[in-house]
Amino acid sequence: MKREPTIVGQSLLISQLKQLALQVAETDITVLIIGETGSGKEVLARFIHNNSLRADKSFIPVNCGAIPVGILESELFGHEKGAFTGAVQSRKGYFESADRGTIFLDEIGEMPLETQVKFLRVIESGEFQRVGSSETIYSDARIIAATNKNMYQAVAEKNFREDLFYRLRSVELQIPPLRERGRDILLLVENFVHEFEQKHKIVFEGFSPDAVEVLMRYPWPGNVRELRNLIESLLVLQKGKYITPEILEKHLVQRNRYKSLVHDPARSEKNELQVIYSNIIQLRQEVSDIRQLLQHLVHSKPPTQLLLPDVPITVPHSGENGFEKEAEPLQSLDDIEKKSIAEALETCQGNKRKTAHALGITERTLYRKIKAYGL
Ligand SMILES: Nc1ncnc2c1ncn2[C@@H]1O[C@H](COP(=O)(O)OP(=O)(O)OP(=O)(O)O)[C@@H](O)[C@H]1O
Ligand SMILES: [Mg+2]
Repeated sequence: MKREPTIVGQSLLISQLKQLALQVAETDITVLIIGETGSGKEVLARFIHNNSLRADKSFIPVNCGAIPVGILESELFGHEKGAFTGAVQSRKGYFESADRGTIFLDEIGEMPLETQVKFLRVIESGEFQRVGSSETIYSDARIIAATNKNMYQAVAEKNFREDLFYRLRSVELQIPPLRERGRDILLLVENFVHEFEQKHKIVFEGFSPDAVEVLMRYPWPGNVRELRNLIESLLVLQKGKYITPEILEKHLVQRNRYKSLVHDPARSEKNELQVIYSNIIQLRQEVSDIRQLLQHLVHSKPPTQLLLPDVPITVPHSGENGFEKEAEPLQSLDDIEKKSIAEALETCQGNKRKTAHALGITERTLYRKIKAYGL
């Protein structure tokens, strides 16, 4: 049987949201769900449907942003045979299929203006026509729409009809981003660990206390979806192994370069600097490649004329939560590079392979630099 997602969470914000959702579920009122990407808009829409009198009828999700503009109208309202090239058969649209059930219109802000006119009429009267037909059809579909866009801006820019917007938000439910849900993050982790242990037949050894702290402090730009994907990849790639901040950070840093996540200020700064240094080294390599290329192209000019101007380098520093940083000027690139290599070597106890890996450079480059800096 397909897993039916529930709204995991006990924070005040989520509890209030569930309460409100249960209240509107009992009615047929149109609902507009607003929330960042991956925050659980579809989960909330299903929750409303499952707790409504329509629970035994269809729940039809439609992603308005994923359907090409030219066919969205026929997908939503259906079409008659021969209505357009390729319409070899007449076909029911989603509104007809959702009759007596619920239609969930995701990314509603992407709906083209022409379709919005027809849609407003469906909301008001339930009536519409299939594309290529003049016969009026009636659908008793409950409408739930969702968006992660600023709809006020879309209305102001005349990309979304004002009358439709106000009609849609008879009830507006705001889903808080995951970073504002406190310990719900851990409940979700537990839930996903359980799910993926079963799915992949893995026994998970758990997170270290430091790693848990990282999970709590990470800003989760992709919200619950990002957390779910992270847990699955951690369990599968690490084969259920105990997760330390170092392992975790490797998985998160890919999505969030230059950001350090561990609370321990000393360690935090070290990890942060390692990432910055490795990026500086990469940048230097790239600048050097470009310089060589330019020299090759403009070989009549001496190389000194092609040197880039001296731009001050700034290193981000930990902000309040360790994610936003302010700029601080540093010394020369060579100094930074030398220091970073020395530190990385120390951290990796002289192991060149590990050091090169940590710095994101090849072992050969590392040997070259050790020699050049006399380390
Ligand atoms: N509170 C929650 N409890 C359990 N799982 C959740 C919760 N919120 C979201 N999820 C899971 O996170 C993933 C993303 O959720 P969903 O598709 O509802 O997000 P969305 O806001 O619709 O995303 P998008 O903006 O991309 O449309 C899904 O796998 C869903 O099951
Ligand atoms: Mg969605």
